[in-house]
Amino acid sequence: MLDLDRRRFLFVTGKGGVGKSTVCAALATALATDGKRVLVATTSAKERISELLGTAPLDAQIRELLPNLYGVALQAQVALREYGQLKLKSRILVDALFDNRYVQGFFAGAPGLKEWALLGKAWYHSIEEVSGRPRFDVVLFDAPATGHGLDMLRVPKVIVELAPPGVLRADAERAWTMFRDARQSGVVVVTLPEELPVNETEELSRSLAEELRLPVAALVVNCMRTELFDPSSRALLTPLARDLPLAPEPGSEALAAGIRRAVREQIQTNCRDRLRVLGHAELELPLLPGGASASDTVRLLAQRFAASWRAA
Ligand SMILES: Nc1ncnc2c1ncn2[C@@H]1O[C@H](COP(=O)(O)OP(=O)(O)O)[C@@H](O)[C@H]1O
Ligand SMILES: [Mg+2]
Repeated sequence: MLDLDRRRFLFVTGKGGVGKSTVCAALATALATDGKRVLVATTSAKERISELLGTAPLDAQIRELLPNLYGVALQAQVALREYGQLKLKSRILVDALFDNRYVQGFFAGAPGLKEWALLGKAWYHSIEEVSGRPRFDVVLFDAPATGHGLDMLRVPKVIVELAPPGVLRADAERAWTMFRDARQSGVVVVTLPEELPVNETEELSRSLAEELRLPVAALVVNCMRTELFDPSSRALLTPLARDLPLAPEPGSEALAAGIRRAVREQIQTNCRDRLRVLGHAELELPLLPGGASASDTVRLLAQRFAASWRAA
C-alpha cells in the first residue's frame, strides 16, 4: 500500500537521470493540491524543480512557489550558519565563528558536515513549528543520486554512534529516530525498468535494509512503456533481434521497429519481476511522450500520485 500522503519527511533518491526531480515535483504538486503545506528541498546547484513546476528559480531562502508549495535550494554554508544561529542564539557569536577563516577551514575539512548541514536543515523544517503549529506538513528532499545519497544518510547514523554527547548528537539522534520510523519518514526510491537502474536499485534496497535499516516509503518505477505485444507475440519477435541489421533494408523498417519494441518490453517485464522481489510498495509512472512541456509532464504524473493514495 502506498501512503506517501501520511509521512512528514521523504528522502527521494535513485540513479542519476531516472526522474528524481520530476517525481519530487509531481509528488509535491499532488500533496499541495490535497491541501498539504509542502516544502521541496533540493541540494543541487543546477536545480530543475523550478523548471518542472514552471516557477521562478529556487534559492537559499524558502519561498512559496505555488499555493501550499514551497521550495528551497539548500546551500551547506548558509545552512550551517543558520544552524549556528539557531543553537547559539547570538548573531555576534555566529558572525565571529563563521567568518573566521580557521573555522571555515574546519568546516571544509570535517567529513560529513556539509552533508549533515543539508540533510539536517531539510529535516529541521519537517519538525519546525510556527506559533505552535508545524510550518510544513511534509518535506520532500530531492536528494543526490544513489551513492552520494546513501553517504548523506550515513552521516546522522555516524554522528549518533560516534559523536560525543552534545547539541549536534542530540539533533542527529532525533532526526535518525524519525528517519527510521516508517509512520513519519521514508526513502522514495526512483528507478527505470532497465537493467542498470534496476541493478543499482537492488543494491540501494539492500543497503537501506541491512546497513541503515531505513524504511522505503515507495519504489517509483518511472517511464513505463505501454505494452503493445502480448507474451506470445514477444516470444516470436525477440529471437529475431539477433539477426537485425543495424540499418534495416528499405521496406522492413516497421518490422525492425516492432522487434526492437518487443525486446524493450521483454526487458521491462524482466525488470518489473526483479523489482517486485524487493517487496516495496510500488508505483509505476508512464513514459510520457517527448515534446510535452515539463510542467505538463509534472501535472500528469501528479494525478498518478493522487490516485495512489485515493486507492489506498
Ligand atoms: N515519466 C516520464 N516521461 C517522460 N519523460 C520523463 C519522465 N520522467 C522524467 N522524464 C524526463 O527525464 C529527464 C530526467 O529527469 P529528472 O527528474 O531531471 O531526473 P533526475 O532528477 O533523477 O536526474 C528529464 O528530462 C525529465 O523531463
Ligand atoms: Mg534531479
